[in-house]
Amino acid sequence: MFITLEGSEGVGKSTLIDLLKDYFSDKKIDFLFTREPGGTKEGQAIRKILLDKSIELNSYSETFLILADRYEHINKIINPALKKNQNILSDRYIDSTLAYQGAGRGIDQKDLEFLMNLLNYPKPDLTIYLDLSVEEGLNRVKKRGKSDRFEKEDLIFFEKIRKFYLKLVTANPEKYFLIDASKPIDEVFDLAKNCILSKLNEK
Ligand code: TYD
Repeated sequence: MFITLEGSEGVGKSTLIDLLKDYFSDKKIDFLFTREPGGTKEGQAIRKILLDKSIELNSYSETFLILADRYEHINKIINPALKKNQNILSDRYIDSTLAYQGAGRGIDQKDLEFLMNLLNYPKPDLTIYLDLSVEEGLNRVKKRGKSDRFEKEDLIFFEKIRKFYLKLVTANPEKYFLIDASKPIDEVFDLAKNCILSKLNEK
């Protein structure tokens, strides 16, 4: 089972992942938690560049770095785990690129699809999308303190990203599970956990 978690800034992905990690480890359900960018040692180095505010990247250069990170991640982590029939949850994946580099930076979706097809990537069985108003998300990020190269973008950038995610989710209800991330975290956790458990039971 390959699950991905998506959402814009400040939606609470990290908190949710910590709760899911504890839950599945308590229940002795084997789950591999991983993330993009930075799911491999090589990806960690790429992540540093991507998040560094002092580095200016052309949108295509940014995309190529994201895809380099993903290629390492797919070949070193995701494919080997899927081969062993392990359950995987990846914090961000393909849809982040379509949303951030496509809708956000304005790279043509067709170009992105062409480039991503070169990765020959496995498709997720389920994508959980945490939805939150851009203002609330950015307020949460502000409270955390330091911002990274993406978080310093303006409201319009993140509005485009949210709109894209919502369009994707609405168009493919069988693949996506939307959670209202303005709800209290224990409710968000229950919804995510129950959705994952029912998907595991289907298999
Ligand atoms: P992440 O660690 O999930 O940050 P956060 O928890 O703050 O959302 O991701 C780091 C940044 O990388 C995030 O701002 C989104 C960006 N990103 C892309 O722009 N495209 C991608 O394909 C991926 C995977 C991430």
